[in-house]
Amino acid sequence: MSFHTIEQAPARLNRSELAVPGSQPNMFEKAAASDVDVIFLDLEDAVAPDEKEQARKNIIKALNEVDWGKKTMSIRINGLDTHYMYRDVVDIVEQAGERLDLIMVPKVGTAADVYAVDMLVTQIEDAKGYKKRIGFEHIIETALGMQNVHEIASASKRNESLHFGVADYAASTRARTTIIGGVNKDYSVLTDPADDGSRAVHWGDMWHYALARMVVACRANGLRPIDGPFGDFQDKEGYIAAANRAAVLGCEGKWAIHPSQIALANEVMSPSEEDITKAKRILEAMAEAEKAGKGAVSLDGRLIDYASIRQAEVLVEKAKHIAD
Ligand code: GLV
Ligand code: MG
Repeated sequence: MSFHTIEQAPARLNRSELAVPGSQPNMFEKAAASDVDVIFLDLEDAVAPDEKEQARKNIIKALNEVDWGKKTMSIRINGLDTHYMYRDVVDIVEQAGERLDLIMVPKVGTAADVYAVDMLVTQIEDAKGYKKRIGFEHIIETALGMQNVHEIASASKRNESLHFGVADYAASTRARTTIIGGVNKDYSVLTDPADDGSRAVHWGDMWHYALARMVVACRANGLRPIDGPFGDFQDKEGYIAAANRAAVLGCEGKWAIHPSQIALANEVMSPSEEDITKAKRILEAMAEAEKAGKGAVSLDGRLIDYASIRQAEVLVEKAKHIAD
């Protein structure tokens, strides 16, 4: 291990994260009653410019009055390049800061962006005498943000998670696609021709590099990596496949842009009974191995060692967290 220890962000269940437009207060109660882990009330891209002010007011009222239960509550503020952003932070943190757990910063580009929001939030919290510190979740969704993802990840003690904003990322990198998440038929490879001349097409995952890069920046800084939106909410299989790919890479959660995606995210992002049983067996086998003075043993015909303990512990811890 490195001598450098990685401080972990506060442990929070973040399997699913529901986007709810701040301009649609009729959706708030339903969101509060859902099984989602985190809700972000949106002031940014789901809200038209002439609705921004009213959306802010709706959010303040709802944070103070709706019973959100144990849900983690977040707001997605407008970008730092807009004149809406400072009022989003000032008005909401001043008037509803006690029920706010997180602030989501969209299109974050540099560590200085994070610093600026931190400075503002710190002043408001101190002035109001809040005891609880609000955490940050940043959307990595521009080429600049991806270029600086490591500096962004370590830019504030408030940082808890990074989210891959695939739609804006596609726009920013000028990717030739208009779908939100999912795969693209043009990102494929052809096998060499078979004897009859036929060739198979294998679709690739065009988001692999970006997501994997973000996951590394998160894990190297103790943050949760979260996969962003999947636009076609009729396509459950497509959503599950995308969520599985993200989970396999190390993501802890995925956005739901429609309530029907919440259960899918929770299911994919929770370890299965089979995974948990296997993890417990690995821990038992390694405990026996240690007693016998061995560092590695075989379980079900495969080698397990101290690295297996760490992998198994992650799963068992996650299962405990979900059960709490
Ligand atoms: C999310 O904000 C995205 O752009 O995908
Ligand atoms: Mg976006």
